[in-house]
Amino acid sequence: MSVQLGDIAPDFEADTTEGHIKFHDWLGDKWGILFSHPRDFTPVCTTELGYVARLKPEFDKRNVKVIGISIDPLDSHAKWADDITETQGTKVNFPIIADPDRKIAGLYGMIHPKHDEVYTVRTVFVIDPQKKIRLTITYPQTTGRNFDEIIRVVDSLQLTDGYKVATPVNWKSGDDVIIVNSVDDETAKKTFPKGFKTVKSYLRLTPDPRK
Ligand code: BEZ
Repeated sequence: MSVQLGDIAPDFEADTTEGHIKFHDWLGDKWGILFSHPRDFTPVCTTELGYVARLKPEFDKRNVKVIGISIDPLDSHAKWADDITETQGTKVNFPIIADPDRKIAGLYGMIHPKHDEVYTVRTVFVIDPQKKIRLTITYPQTTGRNFDEIIRVVDSLQLTDGYKVATPVNWKSGDDVIIVNSVDDETAKKTFPKGFKTVKSYLRLTPDPRK
């Protein structure tokens, strides 16, 4: 089954390194990031988990809860977490789901059989407080993800949910943004008091409206 943008994130119950959870209840009213790992005790995953743990203050600032998943069992996750503390210099500070029967992997389309019949690919789902899927990314098993990029997308989503703007190529929080085309110039003058630059009638840039 594939999960698409705009779908409600499938709910599930699971055992995690921080106890049994019901996913939607665990998310509460926060944003969520669910990301899969092909398997425990693998080098790329080890570096990813360490990096995500170090990013915790950035996730907290954005009201985001993070949760990993792999199809290995809980006792394996626990031993692997010790290795991550030892090698990455940080404790894993978010839960990792054990999915040995691959139920959740199936629900979210994390197994791509032509890539690997048994283990998951590297997927990332960003879920908003209404439980809607807002971003899906799929990476091959041999490529570690760029979690700074995922934070950048969360910044864009949180900004564009609040204002009638979109974010341009390689945008970073604080950069100028694009006024969406459903807003006419007259309305834009009132809505964006710092003014805007018209590059083309369909491409109007304005400073970050939150500043
Ligand atoms: C890794 O995490 O290092 C990895 C996992 C599966 C295949 C290749 C690499």
